[in-house]
Amino acid sequence: MTMDRLIFSMIFIFSMIILPSWAKKDGNHLHVGFYKIQCPNVERIVADVVFKAYLKDLRVTPHLLRLFFHDCFVKGCDASLLLDSTPSGEPVEKTSPANGNSLKGLDLIDEIKTRIEEECPETVSCADILAFATRDATVLSGMPYYPVPAGRRDGRTSLASDVRGNLPSGGTPIDDIIDIFKKKDFSVEEMVVLLGAHSLGSAHCGVFDYRLYNFSSTQTRDPSLNPFYAAHLSATCPRFRQNGDVTTNFDPITPFSLDNMYYWNLLKGRGLLEADQALATNPKTSEFVHKMAFDPIGWKRKFTKAIIHLGRTDVLTGKNGEIRKSCRATK
Ligand code: HEM
Repeated sequence: MTMDRLIFSMIFIFSMIILPSWAKKDGNHLHVGFYKIQCPNVERIVADVVFKAYLKDLRVTPHLLRLFFHDCFVKGCDASLLLDSTPSGEPVEKTSPANGNSLKGLDLIDEIKTRIEEECPETVSCADILAFATRDATVLSGMPYYPVPAGRRDGRTSLASDVRGNLPSGGTPIDDIIDIFKKKDFSVEEMVVLLGAHSLGSAHCGVFDYRLYNFSSTQTRDPSLNPFYAAHLSATCPRFRQNGDVTTNFDPITPFSLDNMYYWNLLKGRGLLEADQALATNPKTSEFVHKMAFDPIGWKRKFTKAIIHLGRTDVLTGKNGEIRKSCRATK
């Protein structure tokens, strides 16, 4: 092989194999301090609004975490979940059954966006605002601070039909959930680590009460439910309740702290969703549940890493997408 051919082959291998995987790891050029010149106060503004909201309602952290996950897993972290409508007029992601009426925290994002637009018009994407706000809220709920790589752009489309197959529901079998995460480039361990977000927030009775009253053709109650926990859930979610808005906390022990109690709950049969509880028994996930239960600091470290990874999912950068004026509408 001549020298020219050798150099050509090396460039070819670099551009075909090494460069794409490098770019992927780099979240397609997201970087910390992206707004240093254009909007130096952006992270301070976000932190300020989130802090004030948190003082009024500790549940802003679960609201934001869920928004972030549901946005990133459907066509990437492009704030498409925040759109109320698009020019095509088709139903948007928000309206899909997986999001239903249970998304919260949207007003908080609007408030942050309004504050930022006053200082830096049409400069900061809604996708980055959601990433910063999620970080700030998790820190308030007990996580270590982590720098957020930024530079995401906002998507121009949002389709309810894109949600199907990308967001699991409470009864989705674990192997299918593993597949969904794998398609997004997440390992089984990262999946178990991220599900620790269910250490905060709540779920509507309607998403898990079949485990209490109508589990299968042979069993009324899910046998994996701890009997005391089942009694507690039945008291909150009686069989013939009138109100469909009733919710219960995922974590009955430390509901407002983002901590590894989630994994202890699973080991004690106190997983709220069938998918949560299955993590403790499935042979592909149970070793990680034990690991996280016994290593609170390690779990926090892994969780922040996994959230940064989540924020790099299929992002739009450079000249793709847009910077919206309002997070609810495309320009
Ligand atoms: C992987 C399988 C997952 C399933 C099956 C699942 C399912 C659910 C369901 C059914 C709810 C309750 C919705 C309601 O009734 O209001 C919920 C809430 C929540 N989910 Fe997940 N989820 C999963 C993963 C995740 C991940 C990876 C995160 C974050 C990184 C997350 C964060 C949350 C949070 C924080 C809440 C509470 C929201 C609130 O109280 O406002 N979930 N999830």
